[in-house]
Amino acid sequence: MEFSMIFTFSTALLLLLSPGFGKTGSPPSLSPTPAPAPAPDYVNLTDLLTVAGPFHTFLGYLQSTKVIDTFQNQANNTEEGITIFVPKDSAFSSLKKPSLSKLTPDQLKQVILFHALPHFYALADFKNLSQTSSTPTFAGGDYTLNFTDNSGTVHVNSGWSLTKVSSAVHATDPVAVYQVDKVLLPEAIFGTDIPPTPAPSPAPEIAPAADSPDAKSADTKSAKSSSPSSSPDEAASHRTIFSLGNFVLAISSMAIMVVFL
Ligand SMILES: *[C@@H]1O[C@H](CO)[C@@H](O)[C@H](O)[C@H]1NC(C)=O
Ligand SMILES: *[C@@H]1O[C@H](CO)[C@@H](O)[C@H](O)[C@H]1NC(C)=O
Ligand SMILES: *[C@@H]1O[C@H](CO)[C@@H](O)[C@H](O)[C@H]1NC(C)=O
Ligand SMILES: *[C@@H]1O[C@H](CO)[C@@H](O)[C@H](O)[C@H]1NC(C)=O
Repeated sequence: MEFSMIFTFSTALLLLLSPGFGKTGSPPSLSPTPAPAPAPDYVNLTDLLTVAGPFHTFLGYLQSTKVIDTFQNQANNTEEGITIFVPKDSAFSSLKKPSLSKLTPDQLKQVILFHALPHFYALADFKNLSQTSSTPTFAGGDYTLNFTDNSGTVHVNSGWSLTKVSSAVHATDPVAVYQVDKVLLPEAIFGTDIPPTPAPSPAPEIAPAADSPDAKSADTKSAKSSSPSSSPDEAASHRTIFSLGNFVLAISSMAIMVVFL
C-alpha cells in the first residue's frame, strides 16, 4: 500500500516536471530575446520580384528599361510611396497581339511605367479610387487607368486590358505590389480602336491570359505553394493535447493519492 502511494506520488511529480508539461509548442527560452530591430522602411523591389511571382519577364523589362531605378526611388520615398501592378510571366507569354516586340524603346518604357501609380494604395483604398475616372500612372499624360471595386475584387481597366488584382504580393505602406492577370496596354500607344472586350467569337485580338493552359498551370502552382501553412499549427495542437493529457494524468494521480492519504 505505502509503496503504491509513493509510486503514485512520484508519477504525479514526474508528470508535472516532464518537459512537455504545460507547454503549447514554443521551446523554452531562458535568455531573454533581444528587442526586435525596427522594421526597415526600405523594400528592395528587385529582391521582392525575384522571390515572388514568377515575375521574371516584368522584372527583365524593369531592368532593361531602367524603370526599376524610378520605381525603387519612389519606393524609397516614404511620403507618397508606390503601387505597382505586376503581370505574371504567363500574362506576357499569352500576349500575342498587339505584342510588345514592335514597340520602340521609348514606348516599351512607357508601357512599363504605365504599370505603377505614384502613390501607395492599400486594396481597401480602391473602393474610393473607383469613384475617380482616369487615375494617372507613372507614364503621365494620357496614360491613365480606371479602377472598379467589385465587392472586394479590384478590377483594372487600361482600355485594352481589363484585368483584376489576383493577389497582393506586398501591401505595406509605402510599397504596394499587386499581381494582375494581364499586361496593361495603354490606349496612348495602341490606340482606341479596341476590339470588343467580351468577344466570344470571332477570336479576340488579345488572347485572354486566364484561359491559356500556361496561366492555369501557374495558378495551380501558386495555389499549391501557398497552401501548406496548416502543418505547423497542427503539430502545435498535437503538442497541446499531449500536454493536456499529462496534466489530466497528473491530476488524477494526485486525486488517487489524496484518497489513499
Ligand atoms: C537590391 O537587391 C539586388 C539583388 O539582390 C541587389 O543587386 C541590389 O544591389 C539591391 N539594391 C539595393 C539598392 O540595395
Ligand atoms: C533606396 O534606398 C536604399 C536604402 O536606403 C538605397 O541603398 C538605394 O540606393 C535607394 N535606391 C534608390 C533608387 O533611391
Ligand atoms: C476618398 O477620395 C476623396 C476624393 O475623391 C478624398 O477626399 C477622401 O479623403 C478619400 N477617402 C479616403 C478614405 O481615402
Ligand atoms: C475611364 O473612365 C472615363 C470616364 O468614365 C472614360 O472616359 C475613359 O475612357 C475610361 N478609360 C478607360 C481606359 O477605360
